[in-house]
Amino acid sequence: MGPDDLSFVVNATSGINVIARSLPLAVGDELLSTDLEYGALDLTWHHICGKSGARCVCQPIPLPVTTAEAFVDALWAGVTERTVAIFLSHVTSATALILPIAEVCRRAREAGILTIFDGAHAPGQIDLDLKALGVDIYAGNCHKWLCAPKGTAFLYVRPEQQEWVESLTVSWGWKPGHTFVSRNQQQGTRDVSAWLATGAAIDFQTMHRWPEVRAACHARLGALRTRLLDRFGLEPIQPDTPEWYSQMASIPIPPPGDRAAFERRLFIDHGIEVPLTAHGDRHFVRVSVQGYTTDADLDALEKALVAELAS
Ligand SMILES: Cc1ncc(COP(=O)(O)O)c(C=O)c1O
Repeated sequence: MGPDDLSFVVNATSGINVIARSLPLAVGDELLSTDLEYGALDLTWHHICGKSGARCVCQPIPLPVTTAEAFVDALWAGVTERTVAIFLSHVTSATALILPIAEVCRRAREAGILTIFDGAHAPGQIDLDLKALGVDIYAGNCHKWLCAPKGTAFLYVRPEQQEWVESLTVSWGWKPGHTFVSRNQQQGTRDVSAWLATGAAIDFQTMHRWPEVRAACHARLGALRTRLLDRFGLEPIQPDTPEWYSQMASIPIPPPGDRAAFERRLFIDHGIEVPLTAHGDRHFVRVSVQGYTTDADLDALEKALVAELAS
């Protein structure tokens, strides 16, 4: 993997849109995805598939997840001879699960299926080696867990796949001799200062020994997860290992009633801003523990949830 394989984009959404708008889809082709994906990108793929007559197949994934093999088997129940590409989150949004994408890539390569990943939450939270994972295409955000400014994201495309990847804007980057990176980075006059700050964000995390920070955050999150599961008597949706969650976890809670109203109550009465999410009939508090999250923050959240939800 080299610098020609990775272009800055402004967010993971636009990176995936570059791919969705470029992918040559024919009538009857199938794009396989799951019921764990980010809503805005479900909209992207339904729009694109709808225009080309392709089918967007949403494969349900049973929860709790258990093993990488079981996950890939569940996904593969949606593969047919018409499947041309698989689109998956590396870290899911509502359920905050790290999906076993290396195993997906291995099986997809054997079957000649293109792999496209939404890594909005991965860089900084997961030690990311795109080559070792074996991905064909990967969009990642640097403005979340890597602590770079908003507007810093990247799109990686394996060299063999770059020719068909266009860009959302056609500009000077399309001069003769253009490349995947020139097409996607040279797009009229724009402010590139956020992109230029990405190196400083990486240096900051290196200087502050981020693998240790990450492990400490994971341990504190894991302890809170265990306490809340015990307190509410609910089953987790993932094994208690860093393979399935890192610094962000969706922890089951009893039904909170009107979610937006409960989020507001947590904010106004307890001074806590935290996303409440749901999947099917399961409800979660999605807790993110970054290096700056204190034990007092986590204690306050635990107390507020117990006060509001424990019967
Ligand atoms: C899984 C997932 N994909 C995509 C996105 C969108 O990221 P962005 O708005 O930076 O494009 C998010 C946002 O949180 C997300 O959780």
